[in-house]
Amino acid sequence: MARKRPREHLKVLLRKSQIRRKVRHLARQIEHDFHGEPLHLVCILKGACIFLADLLRELELPVSVDFIAVSSYGKGSLPSGEVRITKDLDHSIEGLNVIIVEDILDTGLTLNYLYRILQSRKPKALKIAALLDKPARRLKEVPVDYIGFKIPDAFVVGYGLDYGERYRNLPDVCILPAVEA
Ligand code: IMP
Repeated sequence: MARKRPREHLKVLLRKSQIRRKVRHLARQIEHDFHGEPLHLVCILKGACIFLADLLRELELPVSVDFIAVSSYGKGSLPSGEVRITKDLDHSIEGLNVIIVEDILDTGLTLNYLYRILQSRKPKALKIAALLDKPARRLKEVPVDYIGFKIPDAFVVGYGLDYGERYRNLPDVCILPAVEA
């Protein structure tokens, strides 16, 4: 049997069972709000891909998906204040019920920018679902409709979130102690 690598430096913040329950709860809220209408989920790459995959499978509504990628950070973990679309959506969102699916709301720069861009493309409805929220770090206000967990001001990895492309595959959300959030 393959041995698991030790992860002593990581502190578990949210276990996969807690996350699973929360995603289920968010799906029920979304179903309640959209009354059986079709939904279009826009996943912000790459961190939100696991959250998207789980949320998608929980939703008992007709659902389509698309992906968008942005670069919002300068070097390391400090925000540069600049947000740029590096991969745009494949399809128009005009007239659709859109939910932007994001892994974590930190300074708010990314979602503030994307929300404005996507709103200008005339969706029928535009909502935001973020699994994690670090309110202490907010620089720009963002109208978030569905939030999984409010978390402290720490750098977290796992469940899609990375540090230098590592740790995305961890099933739990963990604090990476040596990194300044
Ligand atoms: P914002 O624009 O500052 O809100 O940052 C949003 C993006 O920063 C997220 O989509 C993540 O990619 C990244 N990010 C922010 N905080 C963390 C963290 O604690 N761990 C990993 N990535 C983070």
